[in-house]
Amino acid sequence: MRAVKGMKDILPDEISKWHRLENAFRQRAEAYGFREVRFPIVEPTALFVRSIGETTDIVEKEMYTFTDRGDKSLTLRPEGTASSVRAYVQHSVQAREPVSKWYYIGPMYRRERPAKGRYRQFYQAGIEVFGDPGPFVDAEVIDMVVGFIASLGITEVEVLINSIGGPEARESYREALLEYLAPHRAELCPDCQRRMDANPLRVLDCKVPRCTEIAANAPSILQHLTDEDRAHFDGLQETLTVLGTPYRVDGSLMRGLDYYTRTLFEVLGKGEGLGAQNALLGGGRYDEMVKSFGGPDTPAIGFAIGLERLLMAMPQGESDSHVDVFIVAAQAGVRGEATLLSRELRDAGLRVESDLRGGSLKSQLRRADKINARIAMILGESEVERGVVQLKDLQKQTQDEIPRPEAAKRIHTLLTQ
Ligand code: HAM
Repeated sequence: MRAVKGMKDILPDEISKWHRLENAFRQRAEAYGFREVRFPIVEPTALFVRSIGETTDIVEKEMYTFTDRGDKSLTLRPEGTASSVRAYVQHSVQAREPVSKWYYIGPMYRRERPAKGRYRQFYQAGIEVFGDPGPFVDAEVIDMVVGFIASLGITEVEVLINSIGGPEARESYREALLEYLAPHRAELCPDCQRRMDANPLRVLDCKVPRCTEIAANAPSILQHLTDEDRAHFDGLQETLTVLGTPYRVDGSLMRGLDYYTRTLFEVLGKGEGLGAQNALLGGGRYDEMVKSFGGPDTPAIGFAIGLERLLMAMPQGESDSHVDVFIVAAQAGVRGEATLLSRELRDAGLRVESDLRGGSLKSQLRRADKINARIAMILGESEVERGVVQLKDLQKQTQDEIPRPEAAKRIHTLLTQ
């Protein structure tokens, strides 16, 4: 049996860099006042169809949708924003606090064509802010994620921002876009010909090469913003400038989800190692969505980062050890006592390994080296009798005899040096 195409195992050898990345994200999010939310991996299909949009690639082609035994149509979540909004409305969160700041980390599912940096199960770390119309929070959220990426040692990035305005601007843009697209209709792919009637904005993020070429010369939505939209976008840019966050306005930036209003942004990785899938993260404002799900009129903004892509863009650090101390039993007769010593040290908060199969002193020490343990502790008959242990620093290649009750303290001191 093999894993499903496009879905990867993360083996224990790779897990420490995942833990480091997830912990760094948690820390950063909590420093900005975000709290974690966990929502189900499976949701009613209609949740995604109604929010992401019927004519999007995600809904038309990529969702893992199935009927359960109760004849309900369910879908593996392709992203986290729709579920966040569903949970926010379902639990009337707005009644408890005027502004809610949530973060999440977890797997998402999209049946895309697998490629480097593109998988069918992938991990996102995301945030959502409910209740703040911006534009200061828009700038803070962008600044936060740009700082987070820099803190991981990823230096070559480009921050793109755009505004697609509110419903009024989009209606006026829709007309201008249709006028531009009409003479090109026959050249567009069949999907886009259909999208022209249902939702012409979707033509702008089609990945078919000829459609991309046509989209490149389309009029910009920035020309259609209302005065309020324009003031909002100006406010965002002024705040980014105050924060010293580099950005570029890209009037052709569109995102493949229908729920956005006003602010849109993406961060692209420029370094090697990423390949064609260079969008590290994407986000934007979705001021209409809470209301459209039956909640109060609540503005919102968020983003999600692709964790696999972030790991690919990060400089490769040294692999660290998952073991502090390796316990070596010098003779078969002390293996029970060595197991007891392991437990004493674990109870003192240390990460302890041993080879319970036994074996020669040399083979046990080789194993300690192999798993990169910093310290080996050797216990033989004479040590047990005298209440001492041999403490071997495997990095410095030194050895000391120390009283057993002092072992844990000595190791803690060595590890912090
Ligand atoms: P998205 O642009 O669809 O936005 O996805 C965000 C990020 O997830 C992408 O920039 C990419 O790094 C990663 N990603 C997407 N698809 C894949 C894939 N097949 N394989 C690997 N990585 C992938 C959203 O999902 C929105 N919910 C973001 C958001 C939050 N907007 C507002 N709040």
